[in-house]
Amino acid sequence: MAKNNDIIIFDTTLRDGEQSPGCSMNLEEKLIMARLLDEMGVDVIEAGFPIASRGDFECVQEIAKVVKNAVVCGLSRAKTADIEASAEAIAPAFKANGRGRIHTFISTSPLHMKYKLQMSEDAVLEAIHESVTTARKFTDDVEWSAEDGSRTEDDFLCQAVETAIKAGATTINIPDTVGYALPADYAAKFTMLMNRVPNIDKAILSVHCHNDLGLAVANSLAGVQAGARQIECTINGIGERAGNAALEEVVMAMRTRADDLPYKNNIETTKITKISRTLSGITGFNVQPNKAIVGANAFSHESGIHQDGVLKNVQTYEIMTPESVGMKESKLVLGKHSGRHAFKSKLEELGYNLGDNALQDAFKRFKDLADKKKEIFEDDLIALVEDEVARAHEAMKFVSLQVRAGSEGPQMATLTMEVDGEAHTQEVEGNGPVDAIFKAIRAIVPHPDARLKLYQVHAVTGGTDAQAEVTVRLDENGMTVNGQGADADTMVASARAYINALNKLITKRGRIMSEEQDMRAVTP
Ligand code: KIV
Ligand code: ZN
Repeated sequence: MAKNNDIIIFDTTLRDGEQSPGCSMNLEEKLIMARLLDEMGVDVIEAGFPIASRGDFECVQEIAKVVKNAVVCGLSRAKTADIEASAEAIAPAFKANGRGRIHTFISTSPLHMKYKLQMSEDAVLEAIHESVTTARKFTDDVEWSAEDGSRTEDDFLCQAVETAIKAGATTINIPDTVGYALPADYAAKFTMLMNRVPNIDKAILSVHCHNDLGLAVANSLAGVQAGARQIECTINGIGERAGNAALEEVVMAMRTRADDLPYKNNIETTKITKISRTLSGITGFNVQPNKAIVGANAFSHESGIHQDGVLKNVQTYEIMTPESVGMKESKLVLGKHSGRHAFKSKLEELGYNLGDNALQDAFKRFKDLADKKKEIFEDDLIALVEDEVARAHEAMKFVSLQVRAGSEGPQMATLTMEVDGEAHTQEVEGNGPVDAIFKAIRAIVPHPDARLKLYQVHAVTGGTDAQAEVTVRLDENGMTVNGQGADADTMVASARAYINALNKLITKRGRIMSEEQDMRAVTP
């Protein structure tokens, strides 16, 4: 039986979440997310799959250096090379906070063993024993997962779990890999394991649910009610296909329904909104307005009857407060006459400490914005500063733009950008101003194999003078990057976002090419 009611929150946004198409993040972006997850009180951060690529390895290693409280974890198949890569990548965590986890997995369902692994049950049991034993040589915090566990036959699952625990696994995860389970069946799997596996008390049981039937959160909570004490989840529920259980939903369900879910966790819920928005900004995956907990409409009451009820007693229609998840009105902050000192201290209050040069550039942009926009809100400053931070190390920079738009063509863009310190200008006709801008960028820096996969504009605040926040997603032979840009002028924001994406694409291309060279160097 479960030892107590403390729930371990295991976040896999940077591994399972990042695996979803279009969600890939670079090192800087993963570090931003890892710091926020750590500050928020997540217990375990699954930082990546170190064997997958040198980039993934580096991300796990760098995250392991900066995380202060959470346990950093690396994923590995049941192969020695994978486990060694995870061990090496998480090694800095032992210095940084004394802890690090290796997570190893293998499929256990009949379907996966027959077709995917082409391995017999005995061979799978042997691989479990080997992989967990190897992992235990590097750390005493080893998690073992039964991939497709929810579709695994009970007798074999019991044998597999017993073998993993005997070999030293301290956490046993039973994923609903394909999102097929129903809450009662999933709960029954945990009850069955607790009743039948003799050494089950030596490990913590974990849930890991995918959302193909929209049941990931319900299944996770059912597993917890049946005795699991670790929940694997992601911010905004991002993940393979329909995603994973959303962290904010499982946590707020436990908090709001503590009467039936009397469990404790370490999450500081007021940090939920910021981390959700940061992730949307990085990936370009905005959550739908009606998304539970973090959607724009999650706390808004439109109908007259509801508004009337809420005014009389907020509890009539509100089961949790927007403040409890850190959702608050964006405050009016600064104006045209605010000085550098007020600007700097407001940024510090919002959690940004910029270096002198970045502060100087951001202040100049703030002044330009204040000339165009009467009221500057906190969200305006956040968009502006995040935009400045995003382009801190760019080799290609936006300089200036003039566009000709309207119903009488031709629509034109005259764009100047700096490439390695040298200014280049192109005047290009297009099918509308955005097309003309993107063509001008492509004329300055040709990248014929890249395809535009997403172009998305969103207003930072209300009003026609609101800043535009643009996301551009590019894909080059399966390599995906997201770029962001913010400006009071939507066309300028579009150019900035495209250039940001292009910078990331070229960095990623370079990294992959040097990885391939390394591979060639070691291949006889
Ligand atoms: O969904 C799954 O089965 C997984 C495992 C690798 C844990 O993500
Ligand atoms: Zn998964």
